[in-house]
Amino acid sequence: MGKDMSRRSFLKSTAVGAAGAVAMGAINPLFSTAKAEETQEDSPMLKPFAGVHNVRKISDDLVYLGASDRRIALFENVYPIARGVSYNAYLLLDEKTVLFDTVDRSVSGQFFENLAYALNGRTLDYLVINHMEPDHCSAITEVMRRYPKVKLLYSKAAAQIITQFFGFDPAEHGYAVEEGMELATGRHRLVFIMAPMVHWPEVMMTYDATDKVLFSADGFGSFGALDGNLFADEVNFDTEWLADARRYYCNIVGKYGKQVQDVLAKAATVEIQTICPLHGPVWRENLGYILDKYDKWSSYTPEDPESVMVVYGSVYGGTENAASVLAGKLSMGGVRNVKVYDVSKTHVSELIGEAFRCGTIVFASITYNMGIFTPMKNFIQDLAAHNLQGRRYALVENGSWSPVSGSQMKELLDSMSGMEQVGGTVTLRSTTDGTSLAALDTLANDLIAAISGAPAPVAQETAAAPAKWVCSVCGYVYEGETLPEDYTCPLCGVGADKFVRQE
Ligand code: FEO
Repeated sequence: MGKDMSRRSFLKSTAVGAAGAVAMGAINPLFSTAKAEETQEDSPMLKPFAGVHNVRKISDDLVYLGASDRRIALFENVYPIARGVSYNAYLLLDEKTVLFDTVDRSVSGQFFENLAYALNGRTLDYLVINHMEPDHCSAITEVMRRYPKVKLLYSKAAAQIITQFFGFDPAEHGYAVEEGMELATGRHRLVFIMAPMVHWPEVMMTYDATDKVLFSADGFGSFGALDGNLFADEVNFDTEWLADARRYYCNIVGKYGKQVQDVLAKAATVEIQTICPLHGPVWRENLGYILDKYDKWSSYTPEDPESVMVVYGSVYGGTENAASVLAGKLSMGGVRNVKVYDVSKTHVSELIGEAFRCGTIVFASITYNMGIFTPMKNFIQDLAAHNLQGRRYALVENGSWSPVSGSQMKELLDSMSGMEQVGGTVTLRSTTDGTSLAALDTLANDLIAAISGAPAPVAQETAAAPAKWVCSVCGYVYEGETLPEDYTCPLCGVGADKFVRQE
């Protein structure tokens, strides 16, 4: 890793032997003392597994152990995933054996078959917990039960979360690692890299400095089951995976662009030949492609700055018609690949992904209960929650007797960083008439001129910007004149003493 990182030899600086005496009774009283004292070599579960397995080789001593869930309807019980999802885990077979993360409980059966097959009777020495979210860690206690000598390696921030989920103190079964610590496993040298809020505050990544492999946790992941092909270069990623990779990133991690940028800056200091994420394909070729996508997404730079998405909320068709008319005018004016979405029937996660892709967004909403149409308001608030910034936008409002949705959408959008309205708000009264049609014509021309004539706006830091304090645990940024003494981080809960003023 970077020269500025404090390096410590993990094996040299910690008492490895002390954690070998794992008392499983401390984890779960259901486990008997006899089981606790059983050696891995004695356990019948640790014989080489002769049954079905789906182990894939990544290199001579690194294998893929994950599995895909095609039955799941909603990832995190929120995001529709028609193509399913994979939960990836990896095993390094060096002088020491190292498992990188586990899987979701839905695929744990396949995972344990894979693990037993890949170990082929060997002891499991280490389990690296790069991410303590249950879609990757639900099998931790079962791993510990089957391989009682395994030592857990996890970030300091993960310790409390491990206890919360599983009710045991991980310090009794392994070690908390810190930025730049190293683990020598024989031929390989593993370096731990903290990546707070590259989804959760406890996230870390592990870099295999020997084979230049980055175990990137949720980073560089994607929705979508793996259909046999393990590597991104074996699939049509740009046409069949990119939209889901973008939707995954923007909805799961999109809010934390700064933290992703921080990790990308660290990654730029080392050579990476393979990226092993916890979801989706493994990257071993054309890494610049996905790194460039991540750089754009995490800096809120439009991937397609000249693309326009038109999102409408309509009940009786008047607003929908205006949106279609505007889209047609944009097309006739030379804007390519205009996309029109009905906010009521397009899942908001797809809209979020498209908003990260496009440089310009048109919001067209009816007035509803003297406000913004509910799904449109939800979409805009979700954009703000995901920290989207630096986009051109245009507004169309409709109201049969009191159109107010335009001004309320503008208020929400202008509270986001770097959002720039193009043209005036077009007002409809129930349907499009001659006056509103002319206004749509003018708006289309204004948009075409803006798109063809100038780069997309960027998030603006003004001279009068408030001071910032950064949480040293999770990276959350507090803005204000002063940081209250009794302030607690809304993300990870630590006190004001853990915040560092950003100069
Ligand atoms: Fe795939 Fe943040 O878990």
